[in-house]
Amino acid sequence: MDWQKKVAVVTGAASGIGRGLAEHTAGLGMKLVLADINGEALESVAQSLDTEVLIVVADVSDVDAVEHLAEEAYARFGRVDLLFNNAGIMAAGFSWEIDPQQFQRALDININGVINGARAFVPRMKEQGERAFIVNTASIGGLLASPLMAPYSVSKFAVVAFSESLHAEMALLQLPIQVSVLCPGPVTSEIFKSPLGRGSYHPAVSGFVQQLQQHLDADGISPAELARRAFAGIDAGEFWLIPQPEMLRERYPQRVEKILEKIST
Ligand code: NAI
Repeated sequence: MDWQKKVAVVTGAASGIGRGLAEHTAGLGMKLVLADINGEALESVAQSLDTEVLIVVADVSDVDAVEHLAEEAYARFGRVDLLFNNAGIMAAGFSWEIDPQQFQRALDININGVINGARAFVPRMKEQGERAFIVNTASIGGLLASPLMAPYSVSKFAVVAFSESLHAEMALLQLPIQVSVLCPGPVTSEIFKSPLGRGSYHPAVSGFVQQLQQHLDADGISPAELARRAFAGIDAGEFWLIPQPEMLRERYPQRVEKILEKIST
């Protein structure tokens, strides 16, 4: 795919994976619309990029804010070729103890943010009538649930399901919009910082979060490498973008085999 002069929108672009995607797309010669709730960090990312950038401070959980993001993007560039619904947060704790507001916030951002992105951009991409791309960031946590992070697992399974529905709908209507779901393993980023800094946790939860952070630091790939692997899949027309397949190689078949045992007799 020749991405030169095409337009990408990236949500959660002020940090981590979103920033990596923004830098990669800028390197491909794309024009960018970068959205994040953190305006200051977004501004500094925009200034570091050598391409035309529009920044929009937006909370992806807010339907009107995402509609406004789409309006701004089309007002400035007249087209959007690639949308990364990427913004997301972590929430940890025992499933029955997590503060209801924190649980809801994770759902509002991680899954409603993706739904809001599709609601605002699909009709416009449809109208545009050209080949376009939507990439929703789930996680390997959207394929295998983990203890002590139910809001995250629930929301990421939902991102996978929503993406599968959206993908099938594009096929049903024969629309030239390629939908992909990105399921990264550990990527070095800020995800374990802000939302987890709040509140105090049961020692088992704090230990688990610490372990995850260490796993991220030790085994995580860089956002730049993640972006490179994601684009290899997008360019190949793939729905499933699984940049670190080795992370799933043992545990995913175990899950599926248990279900297959139940249905194969
Ligand atoms: P990060 O914390 O470094 O970056 C997330 C960005 O999203 C931040 O700039 C933050 O300000 C922004 N954001 C948070 N809430 C927002 C909202 N309501 N509206 C707009 N922007 C908002 O985290 P990271 O790791 O880069 O996460 C990006 C995505 O990748 C998330 O969906 C996450 O679940 C997913 N992911 C991350 C993995 C990792 O190991 N870092 C692994 C698998 C998936």
